[in-house]
Amino acid sequence: MAEERTRTVTTSAGGTVNRTLVIGGDMTVNRLGYGAMHLTGPGMWGPPLDPDNAVRVLRRAVELGVEFIDTADSYGPGDNERTIKQALHPYPDGLVISTKAGMLRSGPDDWNHQGPPYIEPLGRPKYLRQQVEMSLRNLGVERIDLYQLHSIDPKVPLEDQIGELVRLQQQGKIRHIGISEQPGISVSTLQEARTYGKIASVENLCNVADRALNDATLCYTAEHGIAFIAWFPLGHGGLVAPCGPLASLAMEWGATAAQLALAWLLHRSPTTVLIPGTASLSHLEENMKAHDLTLTERDMAAIEEAVDLTATPAWPPVPAQSSATSREVS
Ligand SMILES: NC(=O)c1ccc[n+]([C@@H]2O[C@H](COP(=O)([O-])OP(=O)(O)OC[C@H]3O[C@@H](n4cnc5c(N)ncnc54)[C@H](OP(=O)(O)O)[C@@H]3O)[C@@H](O)[C@H]2O)c1
Repeated sequence: MAEERTRTVTTSAGGTVNRTLVIGGDMTVNRLGYGAMHLTGPGMWGPPLDPDNAVRVLRRAVELGVEFIDTADSYGPGDNERTIKQALHPYPDGLVISTKAGMLRSGPDDWNHQGPPYIEPLGRPKYLRQQVEMSLRNLGVERIDLYQLHSIDPKVPLEDQIGELVRLQQQGKIRHIGISEQPGISVSTLQEARTYGKIASVENLCNVADRALNDATLCYTAEHGIAFIAWFPLGHGGLVAPCGPLASLAMEWGATAAQLALAWLLHRSPTTVLIPGTASLSHLEENMKAHDLTLTERDMAAIEEAVDLTATPAWPPVPAQSSATSREVS
């Protein structure tokens, strides 16, 4: 979006939305972060096809004000963390890199298979410890700013999974602990997790099309000052397709569909942190300008209505074979 076309709508109360959020009590970040998952090879497996572009995108993200980067041991596996290290190490002050473990990969596109190859939770404490050690090495850090359990393993007591992360935190290998799920952590799971350790963040699926799925957790995190990291903020691309649900509203407002989708999430709750993914420098620049939009309640409703009218597909993802708009889990 060109600067001069930026729509700034003042809220009816004249209020503004905070650009930053403090995570865990001591990490202040721009709420517009960056999701690095796409900077891996096809099917989120192996190194990126264009490593130079991946490095350029990560460096530009930081130049544009990104202070929160989301990755995981399973993106690659390992390659995504190593790409971040290659691009940004030694890391600038104030940059928070969040990584995760607890999800076992078996090959490219493994989330699209009903049977083998598999993608499944693995929360055995010894495995989590190994993965923390691997992430420390891959990222080139002595302590990980935010370490999230990628998925809850139903075969392992939650107390043991969080308990191991707490031990790693006490040993100085993790600064803050978070939890994630597909499609999301429920309020009851979050409440239980909080009895085992201090939970600084939740990472759940959330975008304007899937907004009802994790609504209760969104409200709970806002109430308790816990960061709500919204994954798939652009509907994994479904909300920003050229003729997608927000295209005409965006044109009418002089913005872009991506900016509308991101601004909606920034306004939805004061504790959301967004991690849009892109391998494109121009998309990155466009996305960072979502801060320029200030939406009224009527604007929020108009965005929701535009998405609802087109019945944009929501969770769960469908296998690639049966749909042109497959939505991946990772
Ligand atoms: N915790 C979990 O279980 C979990 C699960 C899934 C994802 N995640 C995290 O969430 C992050 C975001 O997920 P995601 O990247 O799959 O979904 P997303 O951010 O909702 O959408 C990314 C897609 O939108 C496109 N895009 C981005 N900006 C655009 C723009 N301005 N205009 C048009 N298209 C645009 C990208 O393509 P281009 O490259 O062409 O821009 C890409 O295909 C991941 O990087 C990962 O860190 C976490």
